[in-house]
Amino acid sequence: MSSKTLTQLENHEEFVSRHIGPDAQEQQDMLAFVGAKSLEDMTAQTVPGSILREPFLQVGGAMNERDALARLRKIAKKNKVFSSYIGMGYYDTLLPNVILRNVLENPGWYTAYTPYQPEIAQGRLQAILNFQQVSIDLTGMEMASASLLDEATAAAEAMAMAQRVSKSKSNVFFIADNVFPQTVDVVKARAEMFGFEIVQGPWQEAGNYDVFGALLQSPAENGELLDLTEVIAAVQAQKGLVAVATDLMSLVACKSPGEMGADMVFGSAQRFGVPMGYGGPHAAFFATREKFKRALPGRIIGVSKDSRGKTALRMAMQTREQHIRREKATSNICTAQVLLANIASFYAVYHGPEGLKNIAGRIHRLTDILAAGLTEKGFTPVNTTWFDTITIKASGDVRNGILARAAAAEVNFRTDRAGFLGISLDEAKNRTDIDTLFNVILGEGHGLDVDKLDADCAAKGASIPANLKRESKFLTHEVFNQYHSETEMLRYIRQLEGKDLALNHSMISLGSCTMKLNATAEMIPITWPEFANLHPFCPLDQAQGYAEMIETLSDWLIDITGYDNLSMQPNSGAQGEYAGLLAIQRYHASRGEAHRNVCLIPESAHGTNPASAQMASMKVVVVACDKKGNVDIADLRAKAADVADNLSCAMVTYPSTHGVYEEGIREICEIVHEFGGQVYMDGANMNAQVGVTSPGYIGSDVSHLNLHKTFCIPHGGGGPGMGPIGVKSHLAPFLPGHVLSDGNGLAKGNGAVSAAPYGSASILPISWMYIAMMGSAGLREASEVAILSANYMAKRLGDDFPILYTGRNDRVAHECIIDLRPLKEKTGIAEIDIAKRLQDYGFHSPTMSFPVAGTLMIEPTESESKAEMDRFCDAMLAIKAEIEKVAAGEWPADNNPLVNAPHTMADVVSDWQHPYTREEACFPKTWLRDHKFWPSVNRIDDVYGDRNLVCSCPPLSAYQE
Ligand SMILES: Cc1ncc(COP(=O)(O)O)c(C=O)c1O
Repeated sequence: MSSKTLTQLENHEEFVSRHIGPDAQEQQDMLAFVGAKSLEDMTAQTVPGSILREPFLQVGGAMNERDALARLRKIAKKNKVFSSYIGMGYYDTLLPNVILRNVLENPGWYTAYTPYQPEIAQGRLQAILNFQQVSIDLTGMEMASASLLDEATAAAEAMAMAQRVSKSKSNVFFIADNVFPQTVDVVKARAEMFGFEIVQGPWQEAGNYDVFGALLQSPAENGELLDLTEVIAAVQAQKGLVAVATDLMSLVACKSPGEMGADMVFGSAQRFGVPMGYGGPHAAFFATREKFKRALPGRIIGVSKDSRGKTALRMAMQTREQHIRREKATSNICTAQVLLANIASFYAVYHGPEGLKNIAGRIHRLTDILAAGLTEKGFTPVNTTWFDTITIKASGDVRNGILARAAAAEVNFRTDRAGFLGISLDEAKNRTDIDTLFNVILGEGHGLDVDKLDADCAAKGASIPANLKRESKFLTHEVFNQYHSETEMLRYIRQLEGKDLALNHSMISLGSCTMKLNATAEMIPITWPEFANLHPFCPLDQAQGYAEMIETLSDWLIDITGYDNLSMQPNSGAQGEYAGLLAIQRYHASRGEAHRNVCLIPESAHGTNPASAQMASMKVVVVACDKKGNVDIADLRAKAADVADNLSCAMVTYPSTHGVYEEGIREICEIVHEFGGQVYMDGANMNAQVGVTSPGYIGSDVSHLNLHKTFCIPHGGGGPGMGPIGVKSHLAPFLPGHVLSDGNGLAKGNGAVSAAPYGSASILPISWMYIAMMGSAGLREASEVAILSANYMAKRLGDDFPILYTGRNDRVAHECIIDLRPLKEKTGIAEIDIAKRLQDYGFHSPTMSFPVAGTLMIEPTESESKAEMDRFCDAMLAIKAEIEKVAAGEWPADNNPLVNAPHTMADVVSDWQHPYTREEACFPKTWLRDHKFWPSVNRIDDVYGDRNLVCSCPPLSAYQE
């Protein structure tokens, strides 16, 4: 038997070799192919010596899956899962198991990317379209977007949108004083950056002010149901727009804000099946009027048609998003909450309108029973109407007594308002819980009988006033009325999943997106009740497990980035950008330099950079890149000198979005500092830095990390994500705070950027597990293999597709751009034809036309095996040979497998009018015989979709035409 030591046999590094695709031999083969002696040699050839570091991470040794799970389980157990009645936008919910197992826990759903290639994304596009339909129906509005990040940021987006479309000249925004405090917190921080004046007052007085917009809420924060019709009209009469925050479940039973005349309606879809998760991730919904469609923030899924005229879905109006419109984009939202929007939409599909009415009816009945019982005993609710929330007065000894009994019964109330307690009910509560509440609030021996109270309430009917009851129909579309048995639901989910290409099928080499392994062991903890079922505003002593997990993860990320402090609040990369720029602006202001407002951004930057700068009211000045794709340092210096004292910061991505480690990065940082500016280093490309160098070491001041790239949170088909920011110590006092929490890592007194103190906290265990299982050495190796793999692919493809930019020793970083413009010029075959043709070969296209039009950017990551990379390269080379046939006239320019791609089963069974065979079209490589992925529609007509914008569900018959 083996002569290995027990420690060796325990194989603590096992996960590292599972995560990293190429094994030792394959790495050797790849190194030999690219001309490097070892991984270290490869890295030294690629990363500038001035920033390359000896191994420095302090994360420690790797843990195997079992040990890491056991360690995290122990930490999770320090969380106490009390029964939550806190409400405030977060409610316990029952995620149907068929959705839990087949969507939330299914890599077919959670590993897909944003649907940039719609022909292989019709499944999730359908699910998101369903989400839009749910939003439209329940809010009573005309159109809705795919999802926003959370309710509070949706409110901030509503304010910005009101300012964009309102004809009012006012600079004032009104916020009703019965809006949730965390929403007000986020909106105020955003208003401060935009320079808007905020007025707060009683909701009835909104019309008394000259404002460009108003934010109202119903059900109000104390639970009251409001008829907003008159006040909405009063604001609109003065050219202001009205945004109404609301609760999706209440709209099942209550009149919608749309029917009251609102211009924008938004809220959280969390309680449609998505666990509270200590604050997220959850999808926010956002609906508005048709006439504002061009101003709507976030992604919109629209109906279009394919080249056969078949109904097909796609992201609508993509071209107006950040990459084209840059600082003029409607918002900086890129990664959103697609997986959670899908879960919410499946929840609506599964329950249907009648099921939802039953759930909402049950919640409301329990609330009526509770209110009746408490009223009988002298605790008359402060609010006279409610859907699911009552507020009672309780102070002094009475309050203390209630809270002591609540703690003993493991019950949480809302306690943030002195003299009041809030109690919100949800679908997970039942009659026994009401009994418990009576015992807790009134003490034993209260004599109330839930059944008797129920009989009285039933006889009276629901307490919702007649003018606020929902009369209009909703979810009448077939999709919400036919999948109510588990068998049907299971098949519906599977049917949609089958239309989508995700990482469980083949590599997704999207440059700048880092589509690496999202390991199963990393995913397992997110559904543990100790992580999933905590309310974000529960007492800190009940969230000790979260505190420990977040602190450890923060420490690791601080070590990895070389910064001094970290904020876990931003819930996407772009939100991190915004939070970082906010910190920079607050820092300048603290030094009496509030006038510094210019942000230098290289032309190669991701579109969210200028879009975020605009949110911080900065003036964007574009810096040129030189012929090699590097930031033109002379131009940077000239522009910095030009704006001189007004320089706020520069935003740079490193390695650059051109896929190279720029030699001049330290100099770039120095120049910006020389002129008094700060350096924001976009951390989207951290997968090429971890353990090799770090932003802090290089000289930048602040960065966001896309945990949904480098640190293994799956992309969910377009979200969720987490975008924590690391900062040098001088920026730490300016990190986000939170009005309802003074937990670790929150800078007291500062406004928030997300609704919850730690953003989408419940997905942080994924990154915790990744780092724990990789250890210091594994993390560095991952970066080194990512670099090796990119160079391997660049070399395999380089003779046929020129590599646009390279750095030192002709090396690329962790991704490379292939230039297709010469081919297009010669043959007419464009990057989009190659992208679509790759679908016939079973691959998702690399990133198309970003950051350079007419190119593809390939990022293999460390997780892809050599065999998979070879398969991809073989496909690309075969495509090149096909292009040559077009060039040689063998296939006509307008009828060849490239311009007709992708090919579908409909093509195969149709009259075949092509000069190439069905075999050549659909099975161009032998491996496809075993492993064919069929695009479910032909190439989609983008222009038609934008010209005829429809973003609600078409009748099912439309799909059969
Ligand atoms: C370079 C870069 N910066 C910023 C972002 C924005 O991150 P997020 O989509 O998480 O908002 C991305 C996303 O793809 C990116 O590639």
